[in-house]
Amino acid sequence: PGAEFDFTIRDITLAEAGRHQIRLAEHEMPGLMALREEYAESQPLAGARIAGSLHMTVQTAVLIETLTALGATVRWASCNIFSTQDEAAAAIVVGEGTPENPQGVPVFAWKNESLPEYWWTAEQILSWPGADEDPELGPNMILDDGGDATLLLHKGVEFEGAGAVPSATDEDPEEFRIILARLRASLQADGQKFTRIAEQIRGVTEETTTGVLRLYQLAQTGGLLFPAINVNDAVTKSKFDNKYGIRHSLPDGINRGTDVLIGGKVAVVCGYGDVGKGAAEALRGQGARVVVTEIDPICALQAAMDGYQVARLDEVIGTGDLFITTTGGKDIIMAEDMVKMKNKAIIGNVGHFDNEIDMAGLGRIPGVVKTEIKPQVHEWTLDAGTEAERSIIVLSEGRLLNLGNATGHPSFVMSASFTNQVMGQIELFNQHNAAGALTGRTYENQVYTLPKVLDEKVARLHLDALGVGLTELSKSQAEYLGVDVAGPYKPDHYRY
Ligand code: NAI
Repeated sequence: PGAEFDFTIRDITLAEAGRHQIRLAEHEMPGLMALREEYAESQPLAGARIAGSLHMTVQTAVLIETLTALGATVRWASCNIFSTQDEAAAAIVVGEGTPENPQGVPVFAWKNESLPEYWWTAEQILSWPGADEDPELGPNMILDDGGDATLLLHKGVEFEGAGAVPSATDEDPEEFRIILARLRASLQADGQKFTRIAEQIRGVTEETTTGVLRLYQLAQTGGLLFPAINVNDAVTKSKFDNKYGIRHSLPDGINRGTDVLIGGKVAVVCGYGDVGKGAAEALRGQGARVVVTEIDPICALQAAMDGYQVARLDEVIGTGDLFITTTGGKDIIMAEDMVKMKNKAIIGNVGHFDNEIDMAGLGRIPGVVKTEIKPQVHEWTLDAGTEAERSIIVLSEGRLLNLGNATGHPSFVMSASFTNQVMGQIELFNQHNAAGALTGRTYENQVYTLPKVLDEKVARLHLDALGVGLTELSKSQAEYLGVDVAGPYKPDHYRY
């Protein structure tokens, strides 16, 4: 608040609508609300200055207000160009103020950003008022989803160290050119900005599979600049959000995007990891005949045992009605695949980045015509005007369709994920203050998961709301199993 309260959102008058949704979401997020109660007095995030990059939805709004309720100061951007709920962004900016006199949190996010705008918002969450003169006014924690904020900071430090931003090569994707342009402008204005920021950062907590992969790669080469907590691999995150979350939000996105009856259709799910398992189950639940593709023999065998046909993409490319990528990999459905698809086949991705579907190749097919049916739903007509004319439908331009065409995972499952996020923030922010940290562990510039006892705590916080009657171990049963009555109940290598 005050003169330095800067933010960029679509429409601040949506705040009231956002606030109503946030109020209902709070009821469905018992883990976050329990943390607000537990830490109301001790304020373990007092002094934390968090740069957050995570889909600016209603659920994230409850996360942000939990962080501030625990004492943190926050600046926020979305981690995807299509995922912001503009009403949630408005409510967070307004906070306890009014649209004329907002008093909440600076948010830089709106639905349907361009890529240059997206990378501008990523820089905004790292650029705190006054921090150019006094680095301690800048961020000291990052909360990331997919690793873009972490990437921008690391690339910034790397190029500042080298004294220049390299030129893009012909092979570099358009998005990387945009990042380079952003950093070049920044470096010209201030050659030490990212270096100063990085020195203040105590750690990052990372939400998703793809971001975690990037962090482990950085740590392996010795390039990670601060400790990281892998939130994704908490059991109460990836075995719940990735699976049951997508089981809800994938059909939501398909229905809002197309309203095509899923029952009776052939649905091809690429990847049978956590997200793929939830996707396949949802589509089967709607009566689709589901075919899975996999590269990992263990996951392929799991899919077969779960009763799905497992095939290579080329075996089903002409029969599938619906193709969903969930791999976190790249080049899964290429232009040469898309030209072999049935008329009106639907293609969508729920993996973190848009490189699973070859959108650039699709645009280069000679004579292809793109028609916007509505925002985030596009028909691509092939062989237009000839007898062979047919079209395919692409959701959210190949980006996360459950957030682009719908509103992402529902509150209850995000409560589990975000309870892990908040505990990760408390842990890393207080790492040099044993009294404030949750575990008293020491951290190097490596990637860590939270201990299992905290994972079990997250689950426990979500049982009452569902009326779960949990059986208690007796002392002698616990001794027999070699565990404590209060947990943890499983060894670290247990897989759930
Ligand atoms: P995972 O690693 O459990 O599963 C991915 C699966 O894809 C693996 O089993 C792998 O063997 C398989 N795979 C890799 N390359 C393949 C190929 N070429 N063809 C067929 N299968 C292939 O990862 P998880 O947790 O399921 O996440 C997948 C992606 O979804 C990640 O990018 C993650 O960040 C993202 N994600 C998206 C969410 C959403 O709301 N849309 C929620 C959670 C995660």
